[in-house]
Amino acid sequence: MVKIGVVGCGYWGPNLIRNMVENSQVDQVTVCDLDPRKVAKIQQRYPTVKAAAGFDELVRSAAVDAVLVATPISTHAKLGKKVLEAGKHVFIEKPLAPTAAAAQELIELAAYKKLTLMVGHTFMFSPPVIRIKEEIDRKTLGTVFYISAMRVNLGLHQKDVSVVWDLAPHDFSILFYWLGERPVTVSALGRDSVLRGIPDVAFINMEFAGGAIAHVQISWLSPSKLRRTTVVGSQKMLVYDDTESLEKIKIFDKGVEYKNPDTFGEYQLSYRTGDIVSPQIKNYEPLGAEMSHFIECFTTGKKPLTDGECGLRVVEALAATDASLKAGGKVIRL
Ligand SMILES: NC(=O)c1ccc[n+]([C@@H]2O[C@H](COP(=O)([O-])OP(=O)(O)OC[C@H]3O[C@@H](n4cnc5c(N)ncnc54)[C@H](O)[C@@H]3O)[C@@H](O)[C@H]2O)c1
Repeated sequence: MVKIGVVGCGYWGPNLIRNMVENSQVDQVTVCDLDPRKVAKIQQRYPTVKAAAGFDELVRSAAVDAVLVATPISTHAKLGKKVLEAGKHVFIEKPLAPTAAAAQELIELAAYKKLTLMVGHTFMFSPPVIRIKEEIDRKTLGTVFYISAMRVNLGLHQKDVSVVWDLAPHDFSILFYWLGERPVTVSALGRDSVLRGIPDVAFINMEFAGGAIAHVQISWLSPSKLRRTTVVGSQKMLVYDDTESLEKIKIFDKGVEYKNPDTFGEYQLSYRTGDIVSPQIKNYEPLGAEMSHFIECFTTGKKPLTDGECGLRVVEALAATDASLKAGGKVIRL
């Protein structure tokens, strides 16, 4: 049995708390927040949850083996470092840190202290995302030519981070996981339509060494909620729509084949339109799987799927996106 501490009871923290309270391997959850009303609300909902007077008391508590950090991005590195320095394992919400240097520092500190550092890239625990990874790995789609992802809605404008740092960590972590590599170039266009200096829409392009290219469109300023990703391969094509309740993945047996010409200049293209298959996908809450994985990792020493390096790759791509946005869409090499 393990004892978990959670810092941050805002919008996302309560989801982590609920999953830890419901986890059969957890026998104590202790929480803290700068706002005592948020802590009181949690205790009202989950009477077994204990409250720490503050973050310092939480990390020093003997009733805490590992801490989940669910506070704003600007605080991740500072709080994560304090958790590790106190000799506790740490799970930090996405993105790992506000800079690549800070992310690197966390990785080194966790390695030095022999503690688990895991990042909250929840989609890597989502059944459709895992299923698509399996399809890509077993070459169902052939060679991946390109991926196009859209994550837009009329979202909550955040005061301290742009739409890039809020939403792109999801698509970046998914894409790098599927392709098994990080991009070699990133370029992006965006604008701060509502709040000055805080981009709320971005169109991001990436190239990968393996040959695939990707486009990610993210926005807090769009009339309807779309969570749609298309993966086009040399053999088949796939559409993943996370807003669908039943058929989240559709695999299209569609493609265009180039036939070598018998005589010069007479090439032929043949178009294939076959079956559309929607695979059966397991049904469980990704966050529950993510919390169980964290517990498994820090109790056994197993390397987390979303370890510090995974978090760093995402932070580097976010920083490159920012650099490109500032330079009017310049291609940034990673
Ligand atoms: N994995 C996901 O799908 C997902 C979804 C949403 C948010 N997130 C991440 O979760 C994190 C939190 O986001 P949110 O939307 O809940 O933010 P939020 O602002 O709603 O909540 C953050 C909370 O942290 C508290 N806090 C800040 N500093 C603190 C400190 N030093 N000690 C104690 N409490 C402190 C604040 O009082 C606030 O209640 C962010 O990193 C965000 O990117 C992840």
